Amino acid sequence: MPPDGLAGVLERGAGGSPVSALEALDRGTLAGLQLERMRWSLSHAYENVARYRAAFDAAGVHPSDLKDLRDLARFPFTTKKDLRETYPYGMFAVPMREVVRIHASSGTTGHPTVVGYTRQDIKVWAQVMARSLAAAGATADDIVLNSYGYGLFTGGLGAHYGAEELGAAVIPMGGGNTEKQVQLIREFGPTVIMATPSYMLTIADEMARQGMDAKATSLRLGMFGAEPWSNEMRREIEVRLDLDAIDLYGLSEIIGPGVACEFVGRKDGPHVWEDHFYPEIIDPETGEVLPDGESGELVLTSLTKEALPIVRYRTRDLTRLLPGSACTMRRLGKITGRSDDMLIIRGVNVFPSQIEEILLRHGALCGHYQLQISRVGHLDKLDVLAEVRHDLSDTLTRNERGAIAAEVVHEIKCGIGVTAEVQVLESGRIERTQVGKARRVIDRRPRD
Ligand code: DLL
Repeated sequence: MPPDGLAGVLERGAGGSPVSALEALDRGTLAGLQLERMRWSLSHAYENVARYRAAFDAAGVHPSDLKDLRDLARFPFTTKKDLRETYPYGMFAVPMREVVRIHASSGTTGHPTVVGYTRQDIKVWAQVMARSLAAAGATADDIVLNSYGYGLFTGGLGAHYGAEELGAAVIPMGGGNTEKQVQLIREFGPTVIMATPSYMLTIADEMARQGMDAKATSLRLGMFGAEPWSNEMRREIEVRLDLDAIDLYGLSEIIGPGVACEFVGRKDGPHVWEDHFYPEIIDPETGEVLPDGESGELVLTSLTKEALPIVRYRTRDLTRLLPGSACTMRRLGKITGRSDDMLIIRGVNVFPSQIEEILLRHGALCGHYQLQISRVGHLDKLDVLAEVRHDLSDTLTRNERGAIAAEVVHEIKCGIGVTAEVQVLESGRIERTQVGKARRVIDRRPRD
């Protein structure tokens, strides 16, 4: 068991809310707790997982070398490769009789990544998710429509347990069956929805198709994550559905959803629940730790996880660490993408999120888009497929759509520096994600 320290106090503050105690926590107390827990976590990994022991030994470090939080930089990174090469259970630090749950993240290539939880891990997960919901402004009075997929994906069950822990009433809908989602929103009166941002837009389109006023539903709050989304996308969702759209971050390897979440009054980036997950930002090329405020790759270390302790996990997510605002724990800047999402088109680095921002700044377009990259001769070609807003789909002429496309071409050229061909399509033409994450990029270039 990891050291308990402030755990009880942190989980339920004086006011009984999972966030009230966080607001009073000072940085020094937090750092003391982190150091104590980090020592436990490193020893737990070293003593119980052969791969960690070998990696620490090879790097010439021992858990007892951690005298200060900064000493973490001496320890080796963990990557998806470590989990793949020990597939399925080789990184587990407890005997299987202590494991009560297994999830897996879908690998696009090869084996999925398998993660495990003890009973205590599930409890912590429910607590950090309940804390996320409370930060987002949800309470026990809320009815939560959980539209994250249930199953091996951590979204569904993670969100579910957190909402129950908070005392809210959960509707375990899961992803897909969009008509039914809309029916439940109409008839069950949920006040909170949890879904990927792209799927929220699909639900909004379905409401429009059914002639329902998306602004007039019972929903007042949405917790969106599992895929990158820009602040322009947030505005689009907030305006279309008249709700607060909150950024919820997490990944299976660390625990699932609930690693970090925004506070509703601020919407200034997800606060990392640093008493359980320790963040660093590194230069993705050199691995060097960067000071707070600088952009790089997020690296996370679990401080309390029993079944699958994770030391310096390279998330590939690009962001920066900012000082806490609503509480002492630090915030993540908006995730601009994953380092492995970065496209190099004719030598220019392009993140899909940059194109998303340009599209959504254009009042006639919506958040459904896809980038298709091919090679013609020796040159890369970028095609941007963008849909017009549902309510404009029948009214815009072909010429008007062509004019919008020309404006977007110009903005992409000026803003990002690449030449794109842009097609402005009618509503519903781009493939929808029923469950999970939108497919934003199709790269058809031959692999060199
Ligand atoms: O997506 C866990 C989750 C479920 C988070 C529901 C939030 C809500 P994975 O399938 O392992 O786990 O994918 C993790 O998704 O490394 C990021 O690249 C991306 N991601 C997750 N949340 C956000 C977010 C879940 N708020 C990967 N903003 C991560 C941007 C996100 N990207």
